[in-house]
This record gives sequence, C-alpha cells and structure tokens, in this order.
Amino acid sequence: MSQPNVIYLKDYQVPAFLIDHTQLHFELMTDYTQVSATLTMRRNPESTEPSADLFLHGDKELTLLSLQIDGEQLSSSSFQRDDNGLTLYNLLDAFSLKIVTQIYPDKNTALEGLYRSGGMFCTQCEAEGFRRITFFQDRPDVMSVFDTTLSADKALYPVLLSNGNLVDSGDSAKGRHFASWHDPHPKPAYLFALVAGDLAHIEASFTTMSGKEISLKVFADAKDLDKLDYAMQSLKKSMRWDEQVYGREYDLEVFNIVAVDFFNMGAMENKGLNIFNTSCVLAHPETTTDASFQRVEAIVAHEYFHNWSGNRVTCRDWFQLSLKEGFTVFRDSQFSADMNSSTVKRIEDVRLLRTAQFSEDAGPMAHAIRPASFIEISNFYTMTVYEKGAEVVRMLHTFLGAEKFREGSDLYFSRHDGQAVTTDDFISAMQDVSGRDFSQFKNWYNQAGTPVLTVTDEYDAQLQCYQIHISQYCPATPGQTEKLPYHLPFCLGLLDENGSDIELAEGESSLLELTETSQTFVFHNIAVKPVPSLLRGFSAPVKLEYAYSREQLVFLISHDADGFNRWEASQKLAAEIILELVDKLINGEELSLDPCLVEAYRAVISDENLDKAMITQVITLPSEQYLAQLCTEVDVSNIHRARQFVRQQLAAALESEFLAAYQGARQAAGRYDPSAQSIAKRSLQNLSLGYLMALNKESHLTLARRQYDTADNMTDSMAALALVVHSQFTQVAEDLLSNFYLKWQEDTLVINQWFSVQASDPKAGTLAKVQQLMKHPAFDFVNPNKVRSLVASFCMQNPINFHAEDGSGYLFLADQIIALDKTNPQLAARLIGPLSKWSSYAKVRQSQIREQLNRILGSGELSADVYEVVTKSLA
Ligand code: BES
Ligand code: ZN
Repeated sequence: MSQPNVIYLKDYQVPAFLIDHTQLHFELMTDYTQVSATLTMRRNPESTEPSADLFLHGDKELTLLSLQIDGEQLSSSSFQRDDNGLTLYNLLDAFSLKIVTQIYPDKNTALEGLYRSGGMFCTQCEAEGFRRITFFQDRPDVMSVFDTTLSADKALYPVLLSNGNLVDSGDSAKGRHFASWHDPHPKPAYLFALVAGDLAHIEASFTTMSGKEISLKVFADAKDLDKLDYAMQSLKKSMRWDEQVYGREYDLEVFNIVAVDFFNMGAMENKGLNIFNTSCVLAHPETTTDASFQRVEAIVAHEYFHNWSGNRVTCRDWFQLSLKEGFTVFRDSQFSADMNSSTVKRIEDVRLLRTAQFSEDAGPMAHAIRPASFIEISNFYTMTVYEKGAEVVRMLHTFLGAEKFREGSDLYFSRHDGQAVTTDDFISAMQDVSGRDFSQFKNWYNQAGTPVLTVTDEYDAQLQCYQIHISQYCPATPGQTEKLPYHLPFCLGLLDENGSDIELAEGESSLLELTETSQTFVFHNIAVKPVPSLLRGFSAPVKLEYAYSREQLVFLISHDADGFNRWEASQKLAAEIILELVDKLINGEELSLDPCLVEAYRAVISDENLDKAMITQVITLPSEQYLAQLCTEVDVSNIHRARQFVRQQLAAALESEFLAAYQGARQAAGRYDPSAQSIAKRSLQNLSLGYLMALNKESHLTLARRQYDTADNMTDSMAALALVVHSQFTQVAEDLLSNFYLKWQEDTLVINQWFSVQASDPKAGTLAKVQQLMKHPAFDFVNPNKVRSLVASFCMQNPINFHAEDGSGYLFLADQIIALDKTNPQLAARLIGPLSKWSSYAKVRQSQIREQLNRILGSGELSADVYEVVTKSLA
C-alpha cells in the first residue's frame, strides 16, 4: 500500500499565489454537476519564490473539462495533473484562470465536497472538501471574495442558497432557475457552502446593536417545520450575547441555517449559511430530550460565534485549528453557562474532558492542541483540540479576569480582522493588553499529555501558618518524552471548622500561579487547621492528587462554597469507594458499602438550599468510563459489578428519599419547557427513578411504566424506556420497545434514540441484538447518524459488552470499520477510538484488540484517515 504523506507544521510556507476573487457557477443536474470556476489570481508579494509554479489541490475523482488562462485554452505541456491536483507552469504575475470540472454528488458517500442528502444538494468543505468540487488553493490562508451562481430545476430545487447576500435570481429555460450570491468578506474555501432543495423554512429578524436589520431563516424538510423554533430562539440569543459579552456584531444582511440528514459532524459554520446535522438543530418537546435541547442551543451558538472566531479571523494553516475551535468552544460554554447554570455547565464540561480528552492524552493518538504533524487533518478534530483547547483559553481568562480578557479579544479581532493567523497571534494579543509574559504558557500548545499535580500540606498551630506544596509532572507521550513545566492558575479556598472560607491575609491570593516543577505557598494567620478546597472550578486541565480523608470529602460535599468542588468531592469519594470494591472483587472478598457515602448522599438529597440540578450532579456516580481512567489496569467487568453494587446499596438505603424526590418532581411538573429549572427537576426525577429501578422491584417498574405511558415529553419517556430496557424485566422491555417503534417510526431522529437505547443495554446478548438491528429497515449504513446510534453507541456506551471476554465486540467493530472505510473514511476513522486505547486493558484483551487493528491494516487499500489512526494505535 502506498504510504500517505506526513505534513509538518515546520514546513509551512506562504502561498505562492493569491486568489482575490472566485466566481463559481454550478449547473446542478440529475446525475452530475458541472462547476465553472473563474479565479482572479496574482503572485503573492510575500512569497520568497517569485517564479514559482502554481499548485492547485484537486481530488482524483474530479473530471477536468477545460482549463483556460485569460481566455486561452491551456496546452497539455503547460500543466500537469497528479492524484493530489494540478501544477501550472510558466505563469504571469496576474491572470484569470477558468476551470470547468464535472462531479457526481450522487456517488459521494464520504459526505465531503458536494453531495446529496435526501433529495437536497449540500456541501461540506472543512477541512479539505473544496478540492472535491474544483481545483483550488484549498488552504485556509488563501482568502477570496466569492460570487456564486446556482442553476437547477425549479420544481425539484426551488430553494438555492450560498454564502453572503442574494444579488440576483430568476427563471431560465427548460424549467430551470438560478440564484446568484455575493459574499463580500474574503474567506478561505473551507467556508464555502451551497444548498439546493425543496425546503421549508421559518423566518425572523434581528436588529443588531448598530441598528441593522438581519433576516434570519432556518430551513428543513417540510415535515420538520414544527421543530425549528428552538434553533431560531437560540440563534437570536447567541447574536445578542456575542454583542453584549464580546462586542461582536453580525456582518451580512442574512443568516441562514439549513438542516440536513446526512452529515459527518454536528454542524458547520459556513459564512452566512450554517449547515446542521438534523440531530443538532431540530427540537420539539415530544421528540427531543432535554440533553438534545441543550445541545441545539450550544451548537447553534458555537457555529454562530465562529462568524468572528473562525471566519472574520481564521486559521493560517490546519495546525492552528484550536485557534478557532478551542476559542469558540470556550465562547459557547460561557454562553451556555450564562443561559443556564454555570456550575452545572462546568461540571458537564469537566466530565467530558476527563472521560474523553484525558484518555486521548493517555493513548497512542495523544497530540498537543497545536500538533506538529498529521497525515489526515480530519483526524485532528479531537477532544484535545476542542476541549483542552477551550480549557487553555479559559486559563488565560482566569489569569486576566473578564475585563482584560475582553480587551485582549477586542485587540485580537481588530488587529487580525480579515486575516489568517496563528495561536501565537492570539497569545500576543492577550500579552499586549495585560503586559504579562505568556511565553511559558505556550507549552500548553506544544506539549501533549495531562499534567499531574501532587499536593501536600502542613499546618503549624503555633505560627498559625499553613503551607501547601505543589509539584507538577507530565507523563511522556508518543514522540515527546521530556516535558517542560506548565504555567497554570491554581484556585483554592481554605475551609474553617464550620465550613466557611477563611479570609486570607493581606497580600495573599486564592489564585496561585504555578510555573515550576515544585512550589510552596504559605498562608499566615490561619487559626485552625483548614480543609483545603483545591483547584476550585477546575482552574486547570490537570489531574490532582491530594490525600483527602473520607471525612474531609464528606465535609467538602456539604460545605464547600465552590459548587464545582462539592461535586468533585462527591466524585472522589464515590470513585475511591468503588475502586476499593473492585479490588475486593478481584481478591474474592465480600463487598460492603462504606456508610459514609449513604450519609453524604442523604444529606445532599435533603439539602433545601441546593438546587435540583446540583443535587442530581452530586449524587450521580462516576461513570464506568471515568472509573476506568483512574485504573492502571482496567478491569471492565469488575468496575461494572462494583458500581452496580454501590448503586443498589444506595438505592436500598435511600429508597424512601429517592421515592420522595421522584414523587415531588412528578407533582411539580407543569407543561414541558426546556428551561434550566425544569430540566433540573426532570433530571432529579429520572436519576431517582434510576436508583429505584436498580432494586428490581415490581412496584418501581410500575412507576417507570406509568411514566412511559403518561409522559408528554421525550425526556421522560426516553428515561423510562431506557431504564426498563436495561432492567431484568425483559418482557416489559420488549413490549415498550415495540410500542415505541410503532409510535415513532416516521421520525428518524427518534428511531435513532430507539437504536441507541438498545445498543447500550449492559445485559448479555446485546451484540447479537445490535447485529440484528443493523438489518432493520430503519437502519442505513450510509447515514452517519444511524451508524453512530447503533455501532458507536454499542462500542462507546456499553463497555461491559464491547469488552466481552471472547473479543466479539472488537471483531464486530473491526468489521464495521473495514466496511465503512469504503464509503465514508472520516466516519470509519472516528470509530477506531475504542480500539486505540488497548494498553490499559489486561494482556488477553490487549492482544485481541491488536489482532483486530492488524486485521484492519491488512484488509486492503485503506483511506489515509483510517491508515493514520490504525498505524498510530499499533505503534
Ligand atoms: N467547524 C466545525 C465542523 C467541522 C468539524 C467540520 C470537523 C469539518 C470537520 C464546527 O464548528 C464544529 O466544531 N462542530 C462541532 C460541534 C461544536 C458544538 C463543538 C461538531 O460538529 O461536532
Ligand atoms: Zn467549531
């Protein structure tokens, strides 16, 4: 097999040519599309090669029909084509290049470039999809003004959209029509988009802070018209928030969002024309869960915020991806925190970071948020670039405070408006407004791995002095053995015997700055030995080691003024208890639950001052995935058993409390609304029902059934369905599953949830069910949402079955990856994740997993996407 190229950051060179203007004409036909591109080009004055040839990226599937410079057809000796594109020789300093290509959107199952989703044409060009549409300098530092004309059959494709503002439209011969769009803001090709289809829409208008009227539209298939209001509301909130918090105003006359069924990712920020996976934009109480409502709000915001952090100021090259993604994830999480509960949002973000990003950092694909090399950029849209990238921006925010950070962001946007820049430019703006030196801070951008902080302390009663020693160390990652110390903010509080924060002496701060491998901080006038509340708000993305006693943790759970750390203490306590039980299981010892956990939970459930969302968070046990993170050798089945044991013991000891919490929430429920408050109520209700169901009692099953039967919203019916399906009451489970299918068979997103509830059932025999379901008429291997709801749910949400002793889970996943690589390499590569973390499992499983990775590698010609992840996983 030919080995794909490795691309290095250190090899970056400015483009030899610039494309000032790009004129595109699309003739959308039934079985092909003809694309004419007219590029106004000139040599880049900043290039060091004044007579360089021009290289244009272009996929090998492109059919090249014509190539002209300044109106003259090019002779075959003046250009050359290879698998990656075209090289043009002997060029003038400025010229107009016209390229005509033909492409086949119907055959495009990879969903990159131009494809058809349902009956509609749409595009996905990030990161390198534009080269599947025409030949182009398909790199983010080539920014061009786009004019786009679409021409299509008017009856089949009444709606024709592209970036920017509509400038012309009309009818043409043979039942066709056209629309012309002009986008005045120069942009890289990855932000290009078009949509053509028979779409319904809702409409609203937004007045910006300077008084401009913007027309907002959200488009979808007509059957989904009633599911668009929430996205529109979220869009308006996002636009207002970005004005208020970042001073960012929208900059076109229209903002369009389109929902499509076939989409590799969640959504895409194309200039003025965001394209969304239906699963991330459609929302209706009857069909959408609370979690999805919140995701819609967050993703609409995220893509909207890219209009500044990504589009107006974009990335110089794809190594800088975190410049736009890390910053924008930070912005969308600030937004969600402001719209809902900030503590709960922080908990959710940290939970995701720890389960998904820390494990990436500990595995063979570990990379810095600004990687030094890659084979296929699609593989670098990772938890590290996104979530750790957002944490790094958050640390800057913590160092600077809200006001200075805003000044820094204003400077960044004004200094670089219309440019393609680097993460260093972002840091420079933050340095320039604050006068601080962030050179050591940049280690966060270059080093992979999760730092570990070890904390010890001592108290001198005589001197009334409390000292805290913090040392940091970062484990080796592939290709990086030596690590430099990190610069990080460490927030803390010291609790007195009543649980109140001790006021610190003049000149002492609760925000410590770490820069060295080992540091000591001294606090004076401390009258009693304090209980430290460390790393408040999770002020840095690190692992923290401090020898808390269980008593101290219980104390923190009920007293810490920092809500995040109350949750954190509960997680630490529960994790320690569960992992101790795992050891007991391994040694064949009898299990018993430390009563301190029961008492801590009892106090939390009955704490009237705590809001319901917080109660739910604090009494949620750490996930099996997180517990696995904490083990040097992961024992999947004993983690599952120990956690189940704890669940049952808690349920038995607190049955009446859970019942009361459940009934209380049910009675308080009014008409459905997706506000943070009602979501909190339902989350406590359904968590309580979950504990009760762990007891396997008919009476609790009756509660679940009643909830399923009477629910007026998908959150409650899905929660009840999942609990019954995952319970031992298999006959009732079958009944509910068929009832649910009959009721919702017309709604594909709901049926996807029906697939994933079944795929995540921890009971034995689930793999056979999943294989059966893959033959179900509602399943479709070419639709990424279907693959995710069945295959990915099984492999990622069902550890006990995926890691089955006989290796059947691994074999199954490898089969799917091999098959999918032929139709959709991006999706195939994303599914390798669960196989790439083999080193933390027992020897037998390690070799079973490696065997499957090797089988994928030997299965024939692989895409660069799959090749990269598989070879790195085996290294
Ligand atoms: N720019 C990305 C979409 C994208 C990702 C395109 C990878 C091509 C390859 C978009 O802004 C994004 O980040 N979307 C996320 C959701 C977001 C809320 C984190 C996604 O699609 O998952
Ligand atoms: Zn993004």
